[in-house]
Amino acid sequence: MKNKDFIWGSASAAYQIEGAAFTYGKGKSIWDEYSSVSGNTFKNTTGEVAIDFYHRYEEDIKLMAEMGLEAYRFSVSWPRILPKGYGEVNKEGVEFYHKVIDELLKYNIEPILTIYHWDLPQHLQDLYGGFESREIVNHFNEYCKVLFEEYGSKVKYFVTLNEQNIFTTLGYLLKLHPPKVCDMQRFVNANHYANLANAMAIKTYKEMNLGGMIGPSFAYSPKYAFSNNPIDVIAMEDAQELTDFFWLDVYVYGKYPKSALAILEKEGISVPFMEGDLELLESARPDFMGLNYYQSMSIKSPHSSGGEDVDFSKNSAIGKKEETLYDKYFIQVTNNYLDVTDWNWTIDPMGLDVSLRRINSRYNIPVLITENGLGAFDKLNSDNTINDSYRITYLKEHIKAIENAMEHGVCVLGYCTWSFQDLFSWLNGYQKRYGFVYVDRDEESEKELKRYKKDSFYWYKEVISNNGLKDE
Ligand code: BG6
Repeated sequence: MKNKDFIWGSASAAYQIEGAAFTYGKGKSIWDEYSSVSGNTFKNTTGEVAIDFYHRYEEDIKLMAEMGLEAYRFSVSWPRILPKGYGEVNKEGVEFYHKVIDELLKYNIEPILTIYHWDLPQHLQDLYGGFESREIVNHFNEYCKVLFEEYGSKVKYFVTLNEQNIFTTLGYLLKLHPPKVCDMQRFVNANHYANLANAMAIKTYKEMNLGGMIGPSFAYSPKYAFSNNPIDVIAMEDAQELTDFFWLDVYVYGKYPKSALAILEKEGISVPFMEGDLELLESARPDFMGLNYYQSMSIKSPHSSGGEDVDFSKNSAIGKKEETLYDKYFIQVTNNYLDVTDWNWTIDPMGLDVSLRRINSRYNIPVLITENGLGAFDKLNSDNTINDSYRITYLKEHIKAIENAMEHGVCVLGYCTWSFQDLFSWLNGYQKRYGFVYVDRDEESEKELKRYKKDSFYWYKEVISNNGLKDE
């Protein structure tokens, strides 16, 4: 990388790694509840033990240090800090994250702290429907203040909400995440309150003058028109308005895109605005845009011909695709120019370049890549090696795309791969592996949860020490 301050990192999330789900004073989260209901996750797997990071964080961070990792993005579990979501603080929980952060700092690994990665306290869901109530905004702010006060002097990068677009879409439209609802109005409500919670957190952080940076992480899948038939292009525009700008514009400009609002209005859906909302949204421009990039999407009009529907049954182990209002405006089809992963996600490194350029030209904001990686079935060989050359190829091509975008003027602060260790995939159990470190467990048994370095571990170590790819 031409930029010598570029950060080479990797990422994870609390529910996917920690375990210790019902111990050490932690309250129940909506994912503890959701994964306990049969049929909601692959083979009914849960994060109850996950990869036991809670007890093994020293071992894992030592591996990060051995790799030379410069930053580690992890999330804090809200109910571990505030078991009910507000009120009494669980000191053991607060202490745990101090220990994790101190251990990272001991090895000069920059902690990137995600405040919310989907594990809402169940109590708030029971009390008022979680994100469906405006009350969430103040409770989220109370939680953020605890984190800023406790960790703000040590942590220089905070990520507010991880993939608000995913947890609202999967939770309130596609019935794939809690609370497993398909209702456009409820989706828009929950999303609006999440927007306010995000803005309030940013505002609070800035008022505290802690000197670091804060921003949300967005799951961006750039949209391509399936053909140059203008009705496909219009469908792609609608898809962008409704599923990209609908969040990004609010984050950066504090405004919903007009065209998305017009579509919603036509469908009888409204954003539950109250006095003061707009001012709050406009007052909270993030310092960076967190970008989680996995794939691009090819879009066509439901009224044009050609194109093959994407087979969603392979997309996550849970399968089916719920009908939504979006289907009236656009549909996703396969892209015959691109390969796909075992879970039918397109593999499109150039799409990362496209994403970075589009974000840069519409928003002119620094980007921190907070996730990118390949989920695959890795095999542990009898000599304890794991030959994941496909992951190396995948990451290498994506790094080239970042370099290219930077040469075209995009400001990229750093790159966090998903993930450092193998971990629990929300809907795909433990078989879908993303890490540089293989964790020997599966859906049936936790075994001994031993850690083994994959080939990609040694490769990324080289990348970090060279500050980029070697010229080939
Ligand atoms: C992102 C999430 O959407 O994608 C992660 O932030 C998640 O938590 C990752 O694990 C990969 O998704 P999946 O479904 O393959 O585990």
